[in-house]
Amino acid sequence: MLNVEGLRRDFPILETGIVYLDNAASSLTPEPVLEKMLEFYREYRANVERGVHRLSQKASEEYEGVRKRVAEFLNAKTAFEIILARNTTEGINIAANGLKWSKGDKIVTSMIEHHSNFLPWLRLKNCCGVDLEIVKPKDPAVDGLLDPADFEKVVDDRTKLVAISHISNVLGAIAPVREIAEIAHEHGAYILIDAAQSVPHMKVDIQNIRCDFLAFSGHKMCAPTGSGVLYIREELIDEVEPLYIGGGTIADVSVDHYELSPSSTRFEAGTPAIAEAIGLGAATDYLRKISMENIEKHEEKLTKQMYEGLSEISKVEVYGPKPRDRIAIMPFNVENLNHHDVALTLDVSANIMVRSGHHCALPLTKDIIRKPGTVRSSAYFYNTADEIDRFLFAVREIASKLAK
Ligand SMILES: Cc1ncc(COP(=O)(O)O)c(C=O)c1O
Repeated sequence: MLNVEGLRRDFPILETGIVYLDNAASSLTPEPVLEKMLEFYREYRANVERGVHRLSQKASEEYEGVRKRVAEFLNAKTAFEIILARNTTEGINIAANGLKWSKGDKIVTSMIEHHSNFLPWLRLKNCCGVDLEIVKPKDPAVDGLLDPADFEKVVDDRTKLVAISHISNVLGAIAPVREIAEIAHEHGAYILIDAAQSVPHMKVDIQNIRCDFLAFSGHKMCAPTGSGVLYIREELIDEVEPLYIGGGTIADVSVDHYELSPSSTRFEAGTPAIAEAIGLGAATDYLRKISMENIEKHEEKLTKQMYEGLSEISKVEVYGPKPRDRIAIMPFNVENLNHHDVALTLDVSANIMVRSGHHCALPLTKDIIRKPGTVRSSAYFYNTADEIDRFLFAVREIASKLAK
């Protein structure tokens, strides 16, 4: 059982009375994570992997410790598989631009992707003659549920990569990634998982999913902005050319030759975001202490409450699947009202923070939801049933007083 009231004390911003339901965009950061970052600045502020003195040694130890912690958190085989990146977008771009592509290679993705897991593939189609196949969710499409059978139809021996998100950032729909990974591997293709919305909310086990690449952002899971991860399966590290090279990425250099480091540091050119990485390590400790199972259980209740509550309000249309197939990411519209107006009214009249717009998923918004945008409420473990009630009450007021 989660001691939500106790955990909320780690987030002083919540004492101001705000209801923070914009967690799919970015989570709040708890005090222990902030303290750990300050510890770096106060006690061992030095560069990493570059000095023999005590401060640099301590900073390097902490920095490398993050790789180990993240590997454990994801059940990766080794810490070498963990690249400390800035965010999901950077992680996906490292893989997209680092793999070698030939005309006629095929990439399979889906219609519900965030632009960060869509534009890198669209660019390869436009620049390198790679074929891009886009799988739509099964009917009713607005559920956002992907069917492995639809991947069976398009993944073939020409397919080099299947790139899908584990959880849709708009619809909250959970994708059957393990089944899709199996289909990809049957055809010798790699699978890349955009786990930006899953790693913060559920136990993600890389060896169970059997993915080749997986990317996520620290800032959606209690870590600071500017921290993220790209996992690359150990055997594939040599297949990916780093985006940037320079200091920190090499095993050897002479005037006409360089040899890249055999490990993941080859992808971390220049001085990294040290405090942010250390914050990410502290965030994984923080989440493990709470336990991902407890987080999932608590959020399941919030998902049901939010879905059922919104569905009961006349003039409100909720998108995405039933609670059993989704997490607490809930997009909706209130009849004729503009989505930004609804979000602003929630802030001004009820102190509630939600996101509105296309959520960086325009193909999904335009072709599946078929609206200019949606209001999106998204919860995390520190949200309470009372807060969801406050949110539902406020939406009810907006629907009855402002909608035609
Ligand atoms: C599914 C998904 N992929 C990728 C991203 C991009 O994350 P970032 O902006 O941290 O790179 C997001 C952010 O909302 C997301 O939800």
